[in-house]
Amino acid sequence: MAAFDPLTRLTQPLLFRLDPERAHTLAVQGVARSAPAIARLGLRVRDDRLAQRLWGIRFPNPVGLGAGYDKWGAAIPGWHALGFGFVEVGTVTAHPQDGNPRPRLFRLPADRAIINRMGFNNDGAAATAQRLAALDRAGALHRVPLGINIGKSKVTPVEDATGDYVASLDRLWPYADYVVVNVSSPNSQGLRDLQESSALAGILEALIDLNRMKADITRRRPRPILVKVAPELTDDQLDAVVDLLRTVGGDGLIVCNTTLSRHGLVSDPALITEQGGLSGPPVAARSLDMLRRVVARAPGMPVISVGGIGTADDAWQRLAAGARLVQVWTALVYGGPRTVAAINRGLLDRMRREGVAGVEELIGSATR
Ligand SMILES: Cc1cc2nc3c(=O)[nH]c(=O)nc-3n(C[C@H](O)[C@H](O)[C@H](O)COP(=O)(O)O)c2cc1C
Repeated sequence: MAAFDPLTRLTQPLLFRLDPERAHTLAVQGVARSAPAIARLGLRVRDDRLAQRLWGIRFPNPVGLGAGYDKWGAAIPGWHALGFGFVEVGTVTAHPQDGNPRPRLFRLPADRAIINRMGFNNDGAAATAQRLAALDRAGALHRVPLGINIGKSKVTPVEDATGDYVASLDRLWPYADYVVVNVSSPNSQGLRDLQESSALAGILEALIDLNRMKADITRRRPRPILVKVAPELTDDQLDAVVDLLRTVGGDGLIVCNTTLSRHGLVSDPALITEQGGLSGPPVAARSLDMLRRVVARAPGMPVISVGGIGTADDAWQRLAAGARLVQVWTALVYGGPRTVAAINRGLLDRMRREGVAGVEELIGSATR
């Protein structure tokens, strides 16, 4: 069990005594500073059975860091050392912004869940691009594939969203292996309305145009462009997003963001009523349902599944249901720094037990 290993036993009680946002900042700083020491812990599980090629990119294992953990791209070599197969930074907005007033991050230990209303606190696209450029020059950026998640700045009105997303992609394009259009965080006013087809079509078409232009000019490959959706989409709305992606030539979906639902929680009612998006195990069922729906409607459309994944069995279930990759966020808080290694080792153990040759064979196996 990841929760009982000495490293976690040492760090977790200390972090849990702190205010959650302070603990999070310290965790990111700790990972940023300690990449070489973390690398010596042997948490990178190297095994070709975990690897796959997607969008022409090699993913050494299917377990990624979910967006919002390292919005800044502050600790990328450290995430690699912790064993992630890919890392998603952001959400980055065109303009730097502070996010919502604190407190804005709440632990719900009884549910192993989190509520957050961070509100896209980040340095903005220009400063983030500078940081990523410096890492790139040091050869530390692309040890594993890097996703960059972009969102709308608070100062930009919803009707001008397209220009804001375009400005971010323009700055960040050179550093991304894939790009995520975040239209699903619950903490930016009006953002989720952009999931509606006509609004999303305008944004995606503009981003896809810019992507092609950048690829032509630089003679590099276009970046896969994905859309991250909210668990509150109705099934019909989800179908509409999938159909739109196929029409405009989007490259995949991330399913799903945090939920506004508070269904089935056992935590203190005072915590449950905090505003914001809920993450962790309470999102798992809806996330899995949505994944299955997308896979059924658009077989072959790459989906990154996220929401309540914390164990190898969780990851196995999502991959077998057709997810190409998975991401974790909240489970890192409760499971500690060995979570990713435990998931990858657990996947390998189960492949051995069930006679599955590798991740590529596992993906979609429950749908066949
Ligand atoms: C504190 C916090 C901040 C987050 N920030 C972002 C963000 O900036 N952009 C984004 O697309 N998702 C963000 N997310 C959502 C996660 O990437 C993920 O979709 C969600 O938490 C469900 O996964 P989990 O159950 O593994 O946490 C955030 C989640 C948390 C808990």
